Amino acid sequence: MSKLKLAVLISGRGSNLQALIDACANPSFPAEIAVVVSNIPHAAGLERAAAARIPAMICDHTYFKGDKPGFENALATILEQHGTELVCLAGFMRIISSVFLNRFKDKVINIHPSLLPAYKGLDTHARALAAGETTHGCSVHVVTAGMDEGPVIAQRAVAILPDDTVETLTERVLVQEHILYPDVVADIATGAVVIRQGQIERAAGLLHHGNTEIESFLIPESPVDQHHDSRPSAPDYAFEDPRVMWDAFAKAFFMAGGLIATVLALLAIFLV
Ligand code: GRF
Repeated sequence: MSKLKLAVLISGRGSNLQALIDACANPSFPAEIAVVVSNIPHAAGLERAAAARIPAMICDHTYFKGDKPGFENALATILEQHGTELVCLAGFMRIISSVFLNRFKDKVINIHPSLLPAYKGLDTHARALAAGETTHGCSVHVVTAGMDEGPVIAQRAVAILPDDTVETLTERVLVQEHILYPDVVADIATGAVVIRQGQIERAAGLLHHGNTEIESFLIPESPVDQHHDSRPSAPDYAFEDPRVMWDAFAKAFFMAGGLIATVLALLAIFLV
């Protein structure tokens, strides 16, 4: 079966691009990356594409001097030339208009670091923390002309912990992003999820993500990820393990034996 051809658009680090590269490296993954395009000439993600021997191109928006339709048409032409069937925005820091979207109808998705519709836009982690949220996460959604507004395809949630900082929360959400994006791409590639006229249709029974209710697309982290390890620290619980008890007993026995032997040896030296 032929694989779905992806174009991945980036502006920076490219860790989500890397997650897609890694997923595509699995021969059974139903998609492949045809091209990576960055609007920023020195984006680190371009190196990742080069390392994976994927065609990587720069389409620098500043070159178009405010001609947004010109930029988007050039971008769309590059993607068409590479046979793109699905466009994955992965940290692409340009708002895309209908000029581009009309050329890739129902074929553009984005990953966003919040549980949409909450926290559209930038600084999502800081805003979720400042608002005292207890849950946060990431979403993959269909891209429409409104920023972060298209229908949500799937989400993964993380618990916000009492001592979380922007850094720790960002890191934990990112781990979930790297699981979510390849999963959604696979669902689209296999037809488990179909985007039609800007709406999502889900083929029951084919999904990676369970059933068809949007609430159930919130996949919590595993308990180990979500909570601090609640076991007592080692000195408190070590002796509950019989092997640990035996080790301690053996150590004490040999130490006592060694001590007695030393005393006997000293006595022998002095008395003889
Ligand atoms: C990610 O947090 C993604 O959700 C957001 O931009 C960030 C890109 O990170 N849209 P990376 O470049 O994929 O590492």
